[in-house]
Amino acid sequence: MELDAFLNFTVAELLKSNGYKKHPFRLCTFASLDEYPSIRTVVKRKTIDKEENLFYTDIRSAKVKQLRKNPHCTLHFYHPKKRLQVIIQARAQILTEGALFEHHKQIALLNPQDYSTALAPGSKVDQKSFEIGDEENFCLIKCVSESIEILMLDRPQHLRAKFERADDWKGSWLVP
Ligand SMILES: Cc1cc2nc3c(=O)[nH]c(=O)nc-3n(C[C@H](O)[C@H](O)[C@H](O)COP(=O)(O)O)c2cc1C
Repeated sequence: MELDAFLNFTVAELLKSNGYKKHPFRLCTFASLDEYPSIRTVVKRKTIDKEENLFYTDIRSAKVKQLRKNPHCTLHFYHPKKRLQVIIQARAQILTEGALFEHHKQIALLNPQDYSTALAPGSKVDQKSFEIGDEENFCLIKCVSESIEILMLDRPQHLRAKFERADDWKGSWLVP
């Protein structure tokens, strides 16, 4: 496989997961920076070519606080059947207005309990149930890709490559 085909194949898998809830790339690990590396699972809502990935969250969450301090973030995807790992370094934008935000808010608030807990996510409470408040705290996170690193463990040869925006996405093979 050539370099550009390797990137296209990977982006095609990410795009496939936009419309298919069971695709392994629907979930990813999202990392932001704090005193320790801060990671969690999120639902990847939309991939826009190699350029952007979107997910939803609560504006009061720790990740949003971290991104306000430092927008650098990393998304990690893994496809077990294809033994394909994708690591996207990105800059996060926290969207709380505009057409894209309004479009996704309508979808997100189909489940009105989400993003509406009375207390902020991660608050300590005495019981496992939680109250729903009057405000909704939905926000859209847009991750603008800076680099995409792909590793596929395959036979007869493992493949690893990194593509960078700064290099016009030309990319280069890496030792696996
Ligand atoms: C399967 C699964 C999907 C999740 N999807 C999201 C999501 O789309 N957005 C989100 O903010 N949190 C999601 N979470 C919860 C996060 O993993 C995390 O616990 C929460 O966002 C608080 O993270 P923070 O305190 O580091 O900001 C999901 C958790 C699981 C297990």
